[in-house]
Amino acid sequence: MSKQTALITGATSGIGYELATIHAQNKFNLVLVARNASRLLVVKKELESTFGIEVLTFPCDLSQPENIKKLTDFTDKQLFRIDHLVNNAGIGVFGKLWVTNLDDHLKLIQLNVNALVSLTHHYSEKMVNNGTGKVLNVASTAAFMPGPFMSTYFASKAFVLSFGEAVHSELDGTGVTVTTLCPGPTETGFEAAASGMKKSGLFTKSKVASPYEVAKDGYDTMMKGKSLVISGWVNKFNAFSIRLSPRNMVTAITKSIMKPMD
Ligand SMILES: NC(=O)c1ccc[n+]([C@@H]2O[C@H](COP(=O)([O-])OP(=O)(O)OC[C@H]3O[C@@H](n4cnc5c(N)ncnc54)[C@H](OP(=O)(O)O)[C@@H]3O)[C@@H](O)[C@H]2O)c1
Repeated sequence: MSKQTALITGATSGIGYELATIHAQNKFNLVLVARNASRLLVVKKELESTFGIEVLTFPCDLSQPENIKKLTDFTDKQLFRIDHLVNNAGIGVFGKLWVTNLDDHLKLIQLNVNALVSLTHHYSEKMVNNGTGKVLNVASTAAFMPGPFMSTYFASKAFVLSFGEAVHSELDGTGVTVTTLCPGPTETGFEAAASGMKKSGLFTKSKVASPYEVAKDGYDTMMKGKSLVISGWVNKFNAFSIRLSPRNMVTAITKSIMKPMD
């Protein structure tokens, strides 16, 4: 592998698949991570044959802490370095906290928060030593508000946003940047994966973006080395107006949107 290499988590569908495709179009070699090994192989073959790049796959469940070390050991043993890290894999749990499974919430925190911090920590150190590198963390417009019926998901994305902006600032002058991408509702497998979410008004009452346009916003902003991109002008406006609104009012409005519909 002599080209630049991007490591992308959750690369087999939705926003992650589009980020992998855009990297491939730009001649990056890829290390792709997701749980489903056969789907990873399909994506590998498709991107290698279409764009003439090399793709390595690493099937694993990033909500299992031991797999983070296995992944970083795997890439450290290769002859190439990781130039871009894209922390995209994320899940949601829908429902009132006490009636949903605690293990599902803890897995969410492991994937959306702990895996993202661990991978950013590992690769940013190497990038700083190389004097170059880029990290793209996928948060959400959920980062800007509390989210009744998806409390841990919204809180995890607030963490991703705050963490990314802080580390981006710490990295000032190193040649390394962290970009945080905040999409609004996007047409992917996410709502199906977050059990019960289709019953919420989030996807029916909001404009739903295509995963390609979200991924392109993230890629372009990462290439500029900027700290934050909120995808879509309605989402930008909402994030801005939330800052000017009383917090209990924001929570009440979010609750009315997120409320189960049946
Ligand atoms: N869709 C939206 O409306 C929306 C809005 C704002 C933010 N986001 C964020 O965007 C990111 C991508 O979401 P998406 O909508 O594109 O989701 P998606 O279509 O459901 O894709 C999720 C990807 O992550 C992988 N994945 C899931 N759990 C994993 C695990 N435990 N370990 C490793 N890989 C795992 C999946 O593959 P496997 O199932 O094979 O593991 C898949 O490749 C997430 O962080 C999400 O929070 C989504």
